[in-house]
Amino acid sequence: MKVCIVGASGKLGKYMVRQALEKGYEVVGVCREQSVGKLDEFRGRLTLVPGATNDREVIRRAVAGCDGVLTVLVPWGVEQYATGTAQAVLDYAEPGARLVFSCGWHISRDGKDVYSWTFRAFLRIFGWVARATRFADLSDQEEACRRVFASETRWTVVRGSDLEEGDSQGLPVWSRHVGDPILESNRTRRVDFALFMVDTLENDQLIHEAPAIVGCQTASALAHGASCPAGQGSN
Ligand SMILES: NC(=O)c1ccc[n+]([C@@H]2O[C@H](COP(=O)([O-])OP(=O)(O)OC[C@H]3O[C@@H](n4cnc5c(N)ncnc54)[C@H](OP(=O)(O)O)[C@@H]3O)[C@@H](O)[C@H]2O)c1
Repeated sequence: MKVCIVGASGKLGKYMVRQALEKGYEVVGVCREQSVGKLDEFRGRLTLVPGATNDREVIRRAVAGCDGVLTVLVPWGVEQYATGTAQAVLDYAEPGARLVFSCGWHISRDGKDVYSWTFRAFLRIFGWVARATRFADLSDQEEACRRVFASETRWTVVRGSDLEEGDSQGLPVWSRHVGDPILESNRTRRVDFALFMVDTLENDQLIHEAPAIVGCQTASALAHGASCPAGQGSN
């Protein structure tokens, strides 16, 4: 299995690189030129294609020959960075390749997610401040995901809860809609978010799904019967 990790130098990206290498996959990583050094620990074990992740030529070269592409979607700046990244992956990935994108719970595929008022208030305030300061544009990640949802490629969009660092607790559990009781704890270890992304490459049941994930040892997951099965998610 040859996989491309777009956004390989970030926190989530590095976890995914490590896990993909441990699985014996051949790994191609894409990260910005100034971040190449963040991947020094993997030197010699992965092929690096430096460049902006929304640079179509960079993505075209990186995904060539890959069976799977793991993409970190981040809406930095106000230049449609996430949308450009997603579109390039959709356009250039090999036909039939497994495409897995990451985003947050705020993305809704069918409008049936139910958010708390605190979540909505946070999003509104953060979204306004981020856009006003030109730091980030949440609508960019929404547009990126809209394009993925409309695509006929073999995609999955993994929607992460609030994240924390710490040792792995096992594969997160998931549900189709935010607001489902199993997700109430709203907490996932970042290393396990990565685990879910990498595991999804070989899970065809998640094709054309947008699972919202939560740590399998959180209170809400345990209260709803999660048992942290190794290598298998549950819903
Ligand atoms: N943080 C959360 O609490 C949270 C919650 C839910 C879901 N998520 C999702 O999880 C994924 C990764 O989140 P994360 O918090 O773990 O972040 P992360 O892995 O550290 O990823 C940040 C990414 O953004 C890139 N980046 C940083 N500044 C940039 C800039 N100015 N221009 C372009 N790229 C830039 C980084 O690349 P460099 O290495 O080059 O800087 C890196 O690839 C995203 O899909 C996010 O939507 C995050």
